[in-house]
Amino acid sequence: MQYQSLQSVTGTILVADDQAANRELLDELLTAQGFRVVTVPDGAAAVDELSKTHVDLVLLDVMMPHLNGFEVCQKIKSNPETYLIPVVLITALSDKQDRIEGIKAGADDFLTRPVDQAELLARVGSLLKLKHRTDELERAEAVLFTLARSIEGKDPYTHGHCERLSDYSARLGQHLGLAEDEITALRRAGVVHDVGKIAVPDAILLKPGRLTAEEWKLIQEHPVVGERICAPLKSFRLVLPIIRHHHEKLDGSGYPDGLRGDAIPITARVLQVVDVYDALTTDRPYKKAFTLTDALQTMQQEVEKGWWDAHVFGEFEQLVRSGTTGFLSRSTAAGQ
Ligand SMILES: [Fe+2]
Repeated sequence: MQYQSLQSVTGTILVADDQAANRELLDELLTAQGFRVVTVPDGAAAVDELSKTHVDLVLLDVMMPHLNGFEVCQKIKSNPETYLIPVVLITALSDKQDRIEGIKAGADDFLTRPVDQAELLARVGSLLKLKHRTDELERAEAVLFTLARSIEGKDPYTHGHCERLSDYSARLGQHLGLAEDEITALRRAGVVHDVGKIAVPDAILLKPGRLTAEEWKLIQEHPVVGERICAPLKSFRLVLPIIRHHHEKLDGSGYPDGLRGDAIPITARVLQVVDVYDALTTDRPYKKAFTLTDALQTMQQEVEKGWWDAHVFGEFEQLVRSGTTGFLSRSTAAGQ
């Protein structure tokens, strides 16, 4: 009865411990609380289990054969498929060095042997609640990404544009030394930047001929609409300015706000350089794909006109020409 508050929390817990008695103890205790428990006898088996079972939380013994707890934790936290799963390290040693190593490996929490049952259940409960909230957020993000991809899918000419933009913008951001959270924002913005086009009728979006002034005005609303769609997601805080400003130009002639120079967020300046390059090197209803050289030359002229950031473009050009990041192979595929 003392653990009643846990009863509303459910989930699958993976227990990895080389001592059968420890595994049985945790299994019994957690199963009695309504959790589904999977137990494994070593680190390698834990990694294997994670690749085939949906797990909500991992309890790891530190001293285990094959892979120890720190190594398993590091694997979990460096894999995009599993890094959001909370990891609790259980150790017989209470020494500080052990905890430091655990923190470095990305552990979310620690328990010291002998495990206090009330403490274990309290920690498991709070980490699982957090995990469920993260799952909800992930689902909301997944809906947005699906929506963005379905808009992209309407237009055969822009096929794969979102994925390329996401990948290249993140790489360019990395090359420019942007912060980790800005790079994550670029990765997300690459997919959702045009989600506001949902408000533009297909007849306009896919029109092969010239747009009327009114149609053009409607298209120009997509950054603001996109920002509004994504605004409720707190995790998209750094993505919103990219969505809103990805059509601004340095000389103030862009939209929707006519921002100039540094007033345009650096992340938006990064995305737009990649966006323009991708548009130029792809077939469109009104033009054939440019060659790499022609695309870069056109963009250089636009930099000189005062549209794009000269430094960002310079670094981008270097990446494209070096071919080391895969930009070149994309252009080769586009008909170089
Ligand atoms: Fe756009």
